[in-house]
Amino acid sequence: MTEQPIVSNAWLYAPAASAGNGMQKNERVRLTIPIVALAAFLGVAGPVNAQEPPAWAYPLMEEGRGRGPDDGTLLSTPDSDLEFTQTEINDRFNPPDWYPDEHPPMPEVVAHGRPPLVRACAQCHMPHGMGHPESSSMVGLTVNYVVQQMRNYKSGERRSLDDRRHNSMVEIASDITEHEVREAAEYFAQLTPVKWVTVIETDRVPETYVGAGNMRHAEPEGGMEPIGQRIVEIPEDSHRAELRDSHSGFIAYVPPGSVEAGRELAATGGGKTLQCDICHGPDLRGLADIPPLAGRSPIYTARQLLDIKHGVRTGAAAALMVPVVANLSDEDILNLAAYAASLEP
Ligand code: HEC
Ligand code: HEC
Repeated sequence: MTEQPIVSNAWLYAPAASAGNGMQKNERVRLTIPIVALAAFLGVAGPVNAQEPPAWAYPLMEEGRGRGPDDGTLLSTPDSDLEFTQTEINDRFNPPDWYPDEHPPMPEVVAHGRPPLVRACAQCHMPHGMGHPESSSMVGLTVNYVVQQMRNYKSGERRSLDDRRHNSMVEIASDITEHEVREAAEYFAQLTPVKWVTVIETDRVPETYVGAGNMRHAEPEGGMEPIGQRIVEIPEDSHRAELRDSHSGFIAYVPPGSVEAGRELAATGGGKTLQCDICHGPDLRGLADIPPLAGRSPIYTARQLLDIKHGVRTGAAAALMVPVVANLSDEDILNLAAYAASLEP
């Protein structure tokens, strides 16, 4: 059963083999599959690698830094004539649609979901599909890929190192029908990605805190601090991000040199991984049912690489990623995520 994806995806490995060192890579693929199968069989959900994952990739709301109570004020944003209260903005079954003319009609499951468990996809992934760094972009994912991911959340094959990352998707996947998944997937599949994250190399970054929804923000009165080995991803405008405004994107501060180091590793494999474009397509824009990486939130990308490396995101397709991540250090993961985010989506 676990042999099958390797056989049916054998073509994927052909270019790597011709790039030299191919036998070793193929051997590694075959060796790692039994480990994944064994882990699944034993129900091992914990990290395969005991090392702590880097906290910058998994921000969690700090105590006392959530939203204050709603005082009923009508809130607005510069590019829209609409107004909503804070309670309306955070409505799980009727999230704000600031720009209804800018996207095709949303199916019911995207716009409103289905109470009590199936929350509106637009709440977190937004009507334009680009999402927030705590969730994921949906633009460029194929219907087949989305259907499979929802199955994996439901079956427990797709988890995150931190439960709070996957809980909402697991809950939604537990109750959503296949028909609703397809409607949502078809909606997002017709959207065009927009430039949503600006990558900036720097050695100093604003001081930040993690607020509601696990979103990191610049401290309003804060100074600057060294970046260290981190990606610090914050909204261009915290107020507009809190309004779920799809005209206001994100800035990702990354360490100096990380984009070039990531480009080099992605292009060559650096002797420790496979070239990403073999499977993720030219300019990492996605290939067949393999998702795009270009222009997506770098902390989302890093989390996925870490979740796969630590053995909590599994499944037949994710098995193809196991040899890719096996020898990556946290620094490699940071560099790859910074590079991919810097590409045009
Ligand atoms: C409460 C917020 C929330 C809502 C509502 C939500 N999602 Fe998600 N979604 C997330 C988060 C968080 C992740 C990333 C989870 C992880 O790390 O595995 C995610 C990830 C996904 C992914 C994986 C994307 C990828 O690139 O692999 C798919 C597919 C998805 N969501 C589909 C949906 C659909 C369909 C709906 C509506 C029925 C929906 N989501 C509603 C928060 C949400
Ligand atoms: C042998 C094929 C293959 C290669 C090479 C490969 N990937 Fe993947 N990758 C996949 C597949 C297949 C998936 C989807 C996994 C799933 O469905 O769970 C994936 C998923 C991912 C994801 C999760 C995307 C999402 O939307 O959640 C990331 C991030 C990723 N790959 C990064 C990389 C990087 C970076 C490289 C190069 C260092 C790379 N991949 C090389 C096949 C590959």
